[in-house]
Amino acid sequence: PDDAATGSTGGSETTETITVGFAQTGAESGWRSANTESMQNAFSEENGFELVFNAADNDPAAQISAVRNFINQGVDAIVIAPVVEDGWDDVLKEAQDAGIPVILEDRTVTAPDDLYAAWVGLDFKAEGVKAGEWAVQEFGDEPTNMVVLEGTTGSAPANDRAEGFSEAIAGSAIETIDSQSGDFTRDGGKSVMEGYIANYGIEGIDLVYAHNDDMGLGAIEAIEAAGGTPGEDIKIVTIDAVKDGMQALVDGKINFIVECNPMLGEKAAELVKAVLNGDDVEKVQFVEDQSFTQEQAAEVIDSRPY
Ligand code: AHR
Repeated sequence: PDDAATGSTGGSETTETITVGFAQTGAESGWRSANTESMQNAFSEENGFELVFNAADNDPAAQISAVRNFINQGVDAIVIAPVVEDGWDDVLKEAQDAGIPVILEDRTVTAPDDLYAAWVGLDFKAEGVKAGEWAVQEFGDEPTNMVVLEGTTGSAPANDRAEGFSEAIAGSAIETIDSQSGDFTRDGGKSVMEGYIANYGIEGIDLVYAHNDDMGLGAIEAIEAAGGTPGEDIKIVTIDAVKDGMQALVDGKINFIVECNPMLGEKAAELVKAVLNGDDVEKVQFVEDQSFTQEQAAEVIDSRPY
């Protein structure tokens, strides 16, 4: 870290400004905006950081080249929210060779874990399991036609939420009649849902499992535009619990939400400081998630920060 003189008191007090390159996925969802804000607040000048921010518009190649730029700039540490799981080995090795520690936040990678210092995030598979358990409880043994709005193809949350949900519904009468990516965006969810409605009709679909709130909100728009009543004609379960999603749950348009906590900034900033300090840190750090029924959402919606 660079030494930087502080204040105008003329005293001898100095602080070390830590330069951190943060490679964010993009700005695809309400969750992502809340996560970016949490990171920017935690990696603030007041906390001793200079943050070099890059958002890759969900393009894995652009994100890898942003990380290479951080390496060339000689930042003190790099934080990455990886768009996809695969393809990280080379650039992580380059960071390691340059002596720059990497901390992952939010999403995971398939690269060997000695190529990064630590990861902080959510248990995406457990989120999928909770969503699936709700579906089984809701539909019981009733034959159920489900369509899935998947997150970004190849991303850890899309992979793990699919796996967790499938495990939870195994042996039930819930059948996946279609599953496509809506890329974690509201527009993506809307257009994939329009296609499902065109193919199966409102009456041919009982349940939507959306890998995030934004795609669920897009599905609501598509169902309403086709004359259906979301939450009644077609039930909807989503993951995230951002404000707009929680409002739709309170309004009865979404039926159940599993939380994915975006407030990872403080934990990531602590990890960067600890790693640069040479402290031993836990490699894998899970943050707690909850889940919400309509009644539970109504109780907490006003007190939630995002
Ligand atoms: O990686 C977390 C996921 O990414 C969130 O569920 C989703 O909304 C976001 O875009």
